[in-house]
Order: sequence, then structure tokens, then C-alpha cells
Amino acid sequence: MRWKFYPLCATEIRGESMDRERAMNILRARLKKENLLKHCLATEAIMRKLAEELGEDPEMWGLAGLVHDIDYEECTPETHGEIGAEILKSQGFPEEIIRAVRHHNYMNYPSRDTRLEVSLVASDSITGLIVACALVKKGKISEVTLKTVKKKLKDRSFAGRVNRDMIREIEKIGVPLDRFIEISLDAMKDIAGELGLE
Ligand SMILES: [Fe+2]
Repeated sequence: MRWKFYPLCATEIRGESMDRERAMNILRARLKKENLLKHCLATEAIMRKLAEELGEDPEMWGLAGLVHDIDYEECTPETHGEIGAEILKSQGFPEEIIRAVRHHNYMNYPSRDTRLEVSLVASDSITGLIVACALVKKGKISEVTLKTVKKKLKDRSFAGRVNRDMIREIEKIGVPLDRFIEISLDAMKDIAGELGLE
């Protein structure tokens, strides 16, 4: 299979430390859909808060969340994550992030090995559920509560494309489901303006 893959300025970037601003520029060069960028920002925000909760590196985890769908506008369901990993490799991202992005395609990788990988898939999945809950509340995420999200998580006819199993997998790394929902809600409420959910 031929990948539609064009490295961007790899030589300028390789060898330098990766920071959020540079990652954002790389992401914006590849993703044009506003809703997709918002999804990436939401995933980043959750990953940062979760890292703080678990004593992990918020910068690293935040970056993984931010760039996890970098290939979304140029991949197929089968190549999603694979192309992303290659892009990130060419741009000098840390190996942990590259691996987590590759493995977040749970269709290709049915199990995850590290806390970062489990957290990325869970965070990726819960953003869609929370956005759907906010839309029911006329787009106001401030009105979404833990109780609402728990109820909608059980109702598989609501936001049917959200993978509930991937959200629940967070308990495998010792984070209670309720706590994960709270962290995710808080994280997304903190950036409600950027997400267009005020
Ligand atoms: Fe995603």
C-alpha cells in the first residue's frame, strides 16, 4: 500500500526538543477540519490532567493527546496511527509518543501495554461522549455533570460510535471510572472556549 506521506521540514526539526508550539504547528499543517482540531485539544487537555493525577509527565502526555490524530485527514481506518507514527518519527517526537499513537488504533492493536497507551485510547474515546452530552445541553459543557456522563455511558444508543469499552479500560491502570470522567470533564471545561462549548 502506498502511503500519502509528506514529511515537513524534518531536517530543521530533528534533533531539537519537541515543544507544544512546534507540535501545534506540525499538527495545523496536516489537519484542516476545525472539529478535528478541537477533538485533539480536548484529548490533550484530558491527557495533561490525567498525567498530573498519576504522577506522570504532563508535557509528554499532553503532546501525545494533541498529535494522536495527526494523520486523520490522510489515512484509511487500516493505516490510521501507522501513518501518524511515521510522521511523528520524521519530526523527532519521543518514542513513547510514537508508539502510543500507533497503538491507539485499537482495530489494529487489540491490547495496550503502558499507562500512556491505555490513557490515550480512553481519553480519545471519552471526548466524543462529553461533546455529545454538551450538545444535549445546548452546547454548554458547564451544564454537563458526572451523573449525566455516567448515564449516557450506559446508554449505548446515545453517541453510538463512542467505544465504551475503551473508556472503561482506564480502570485497568487503577483509575476509577468516576474519577476518570471527573478529570475529563474538568479538563474540557477548562478549555470550553477553545472547544466552542461555552
Ligand atoms: Fe482521536
